[in-house]
Amino acid sequence: DLPENVTIKEVGPRDGLQNEPVEVPTEDKIAWIDRLSEAGYSYIEFSSFVHPKWIPQLKDAREVAASIKRKPSTTYAALVPNMKGLEGALDTGVDEVSVFMSASDTHNRKNINKSIEETYPVLGEVVSEAKKAGKTVRGYVSTVFGCPYEGDIPVHQVVDVSQRLLDLGIDELSLGDTIGVADPKQVDTVLTELKQQLSFNDLAMHFHNTRGMALANVLVSLQHGITTFDSSLGGLGGCPYAKGASGNLATDDLVHMLHQMGVQTGLDLEKLEEAALFIQSKLNKTLPSHQMQVLNKE
Ligand code: HMG
Ligand code: MG
Repeated sequence: DLPENVTIKEVGPRDGLQNEPVEVPTEDKIAWIDRLSEAGYSYIEFSSFVHPKWIPQLKDAREVAASIKRKPSTTYAALVPNMKGLEGALDTGVDEVSVFMSASDTHNRKNINKSIEETYPVLGEVVSEAKKAGKTVRGYVSTVFGCPYEGDIPVHQVVDVSQRLLDLGIDELSLGDTIGVADPKQVDTVLTELKQQLSFNDLAMHFHNTRGMALANVLVSLQHGITTFDSSLGGLGGCPYAKGASGNLATDDLVHMLHQMGVQTGLDLEKLEEAALFIQSKLNKTLPSHQMQVLNKE
């Protein structure tokens, strides 16, 4: 049975733009995020507070946060790796912060320059300070279905990292297929195992579409009762520290599939398409989603 409603968390302004070689001007980001808000999202991850040397594309997180028009019905979230990032995010009055950890030690080191063990105390402090400030915290686990450096990731490593993030007090777990290697059978295996071993309130899936399997993976996740998915409009994005990571699952393709199947998202597909055309016009490329390929031919 399919759920009646699904929540889509838009990560394009963060996960999408962080991997685009073109640096989109701040004013265009603001105009784009405002269009996203108008399309009906309940959740937008609008940027990250990370080192500008590592991710120059998002160095204007403060300016973006200061000027976007915030809808009361939308949660505006930012990704933070450490206390310095949290302080920046709190200064701008975010609603939620997201922290991240890899299930693979090598990927974690490449991504944030620390081992998994060294990262727990950093995230522990971030979560507890965010909570003191009255914010909710989302925790991503990366490389859940495979790592560009270590290859296959045993499920017990995913369970262990997830459990430890939950123990730190995160409100929602998001499982990342960072390099888009998951297949539907593997998603079934991992979700079956996780549901047996962990107790969580909110679980989201974060698929990348590198090998075109993201929508199939969504379908299996829906059958497991998952009702929250991360996606990026037009299929923007990837992970700059994961070789071969291409764009996230495209929001427009996801919305199209869900609406076709009678599953509600609260999103206006026409407004999404206009917003996708807008951001596409700011990049020197055509966006890879199927919906955009249809639109670009019209
Ligand atoms: P580091 O060099 O180890 O940092 O980088 P450090 O603590 O040694 O400090 C060095 C300098 O960085 C200091 O400045 C700090 O103040 C500064 P200096 O004294 O040299 O002038 N610094 C910062 N500056 C700005 N913002 C900060 C910050 N922290 C320290 N937050 C660090 C460690 C974590 C900062 C760095 O590795 C980094 O920024 N990494 C970001 C990586 C990233 O953004 N990756 C992509 C997001 S994760 C993802 O995409 C996966 C996901 O989508 C899920 C999935 O698909 O699987 C979420
Ligand atoms: Mg990602």
